[in-house]
Amino acid sequence: MDCAGRHQQPVSPNMGTGSHSERLMHGIVLKGFKDFVIERFDRETWRAIQADAGLEGKLYVPVTEYPDDEVRALLKAAVSISNTPANELLEAFGEFLLPSLLETYGVHVDDQWSALELIANVEEYIHTSLRAKAVAAYTPPQLQSDWIDDSNVRIVYRSERTLCAFARGLISGIGTHRGEQLTIEERACMHNGDPQCVLVVSRRHTP
Ligand code: HEM
Repeated sequence: MDCAGRHQQPVSPNMGTGSHSERLMHGIVLKGFKDFVIERFDRETWRAIQADAGLEGKLYVPVTEYPDDEVRALLKAAVSISNTPANELLEAFGEFLLPSLLETYGVHVDDQWSALELIANVEEYIHTSLRAKAVAAYTPPQLQSDWIDDSNVRIVYRSERTLCAFARGLISGIGTHRGEQLTIEERACMHNGDPQCVLVVSRRHTP
């Protein structure tokens, strides 16, 4: 059963320990969140979310990094103003953001990879390259990926940000982007007290 499905309460990502995390999230994520809110709701809703988060009028650009505290405040406000559970918002946001991530960082991606190959290769070819960049302080999560067999990949996600719903959305977005049908089963989840989230991604064979 899926992690989100097992939850009685809405998932509330902690985005770091303590109330003033010093971690930074890249502007492509923040700017993407603004675009997502405007497309799914409207510009007024984005303004209301910013005001509720105490970040009225703040601009988000993809070449800067922003404190996790701001991401957390925006997400909390978005949940309350849109009356949508955090896990639902984050999953939809991940799916929305994926095409622009691929467009921006496509140099690390082989067009010949299938959806499942891309997912299995994210840590080695994408997240690791981002962490090594000198121009910006990228902090993508350390993913562990293993092929179970040629149709199933296991992803282990561990991050103080506990954004597994966002991870699920990115994975779904990869399937949509490549035109392949994927299923995601979350076998363990930090929101249920597990030390890490374990996602098994499977490709459906077309008959
Ligand atoms: C299996 C697919 C993927 C998963 C599960 C995944 C997971 C995540 C998660 C959960 C985050 C939020 C940060 C955190 O939780 O600590 C993140 C950040 C990020 N990911 Fe990935 N990701 C995937 C694919 C990709 C792809 C395909 C790209 C680019 C082509 C990408 C680029 C990024 C970037 C730029 C960030 C922001 C890092 C920062 O703010 O410093 N990811 N990823």
